[in-house]
Formats: sequence, C-alpha cells, structure tokens
Amino acid sequence: MTDGIDLNIFDMSDRRVLITGAAGGIGSAMARSFSAHGATLVLADRNQTDLDELAKSVGGNPLCLGYDQSIPEEVEKLAAAVGPIDILLNNAGILAMSPLQEQSTEEITQLIAINLTGPILLATALAKGMITRGRGVIINTASQLAFTGAMNRSVYSTTKAGLVQFTRTAAAEWARYGVRVVALAPGPTETPMIKEIINTPEGRAQRLDKIPMQRFGTAEEMARLALVLASDLTDNVTGHTLVADGGYVAAS
Ligand SMILES: NC(=O)c1ccc[n+]([C@@H]2O[C@H](COP(=O)([O-])OP(=O)(O)OC[C@H]3O[C@@H](n4cnc5c(N)ncnc54)[C@H](O)[C@@H]3O)[C@@H](O)[C@H]2O)c1
Repeated sequence: MTDGIDLNIFDMSDRRVLITGAAGGIGSAMARSFSAHGATLVLADRNQTDLDELAKSVGGNPLCLGYDQSIPEEVEKLAAAVGPIDILLNNAGILAMSPLQEQSTEEITQLIAINLTGPILLATALAKGMITRGRGVIINTASQLAFTGAMNRSVYSTTKAGLVQFTRTAAAEWARYGVRVVALAPGPTETPMIKEIINTPEGRAQRLDKIPMQRFGTAEEMARLALVLASDLTDNVTGHTLVADGGYVAAS
C-alpha cells in the first residue's frame, strides 16, 4: 500500500474478461495488457484468423470466438457462449467515411448495427449475469467524434454519441446492482482503422492539426486506460466517458 493505493489494484487474476474487436489494434493491445495482469480472456472478433494468431502470442490459452456484430442473432449467440463475464470491453467497431448524401441505406444500417445496436445488445445480455452476481464492469469504446462534428463521418459520430448516452443511462440503471458502465473515447489512434488516412502526408497533417498534443494516441495507451477503468481504482466511477485524445475535443 502506497499513498492509500493498493499496488495490487490492477491484479485481474480473479476476472474473466470478454474483449470484442480483439483482433484489431486497440482490442489486441487490451488483450495483451489484461493478460499481463492475469485476467482470463475471452476474445471475440469477426476475423477468426487474426484472433487465432493473437491467442498464440497473448498466452493463457484464451477462448476465441468468431462472430459478426452486425447480426443481432450472432451477438446473442456470443453472449450465450462466453460464460460468466466480470469485465466486458465492448470495443468492436468500424469506421466509414463518405459524404452523408452519398451513403446507401445499407451502409448506414450496417454502421449503426455494428457500432451501436451490437454493443447495446451485448452489454444488455451480459449485464443480466453481472446483476445476478452483484458485480461487473462494462467499458464501451466510443470516440472523440461523439463530442464534435466531423466531415464525412456523420453516421459514425452519431453511433459513438449514442454509445456515450447508453453508457450514462445503463450506468444509472445498473449501479444499484453493482454493475459499472463507463466509456473510453479515443482520439485518432495509430491502428489499422485509420492507417490509410494517416499514411498519406495530407491525411496525417490534417489530423495532427486538430490535436493540440501534436501526436496520435497509441493502442497501448488506450489499453492502459481500459485497465484503470476496469480496476477497483475507479470503483466509484460510473456513467463517465474518459476522453483520451491529446486535446482534440478541448480545442474543438
Ligand atoms: N483508431 C482510432 O483512431 C479510433 C478512434 C476513436 C475510436 N476508435 C474505436 O476503437 C475501437 C477499436 O478500433 P481500432 O482502432 O482498434 O480498429 P481496428 O480496425 O484495428 O479494430 C476493429 C476490430 O473490430 C472488428 N470488427 C469490425 N466489425 C466487426 C463485426 N461486424 N463483428 C465483429 N468484429 C468486428 C475488426 O475485425 C477489428 O478486429 C472501435 O470501436 C473504433 O471505433 C478508434
């Protein structure tokens, strides 16, 4: 114990953690981080090949489950297959960029299904067990774009704003059962999701111009913050969205 903080507070060895989008940049960093802190992992993604590769490197023999978050039945099947979960890192998502008037009904519906309906269905299904056991933490991966307007990302930012509001309201409903619901809102973070944008000099300069710290976030930074939010260090925190964006929203 130092300054009132139990240094074992990040010990996750008695927690089962489900990470969605685990094969991606932020999800795989979360897997490595929670595994290093002793968690028992369940990894889920639509990309089964990358998931199996990750499982080999992450250690601890995680359970790996393929599913498609755009299909409600698959989300429900995933929730039924994972067993009791203490911490849900509700992280899978996609980015789609195009002028709003050029987006098809299919694209809009797909984006909402993956980024909003899927996470709500999964959180709600898993919260039932958490409520019965009287403990649980749900961390939704939102985005700094939940708080700012953004050209060509109307529907994406709408889904993330929806997730922030779901975080507040679910937190209020489930607090009495010992279930915390929080969100992490990364700013531009160097992962495959934005690789193509920031790999061009103009794209990179345009994004950096909006970030007062003049640098992108890293997946490892996001994973560390998820660990803090999942730990008992923040056991009085619920309904909150932690923005980790190098000052992007502050300067908007
Ligand atoms: N990278 C950024 O700049 C940034 C910024 C803000 C928010 N985010 C959010 O962070 C989260 C993680 O993104 P990332 O940067 O690691 O991106 P990523 O593309 O590296 O990872 C996303 C993962 O989600 C999975 N996924 C996508 N659609 C799915 C579906 N239908 N069913 C199951 N799995 C699916 C992908 O296979 C992939 O492994 C996302 O929710 C994203 O919106 C990212």
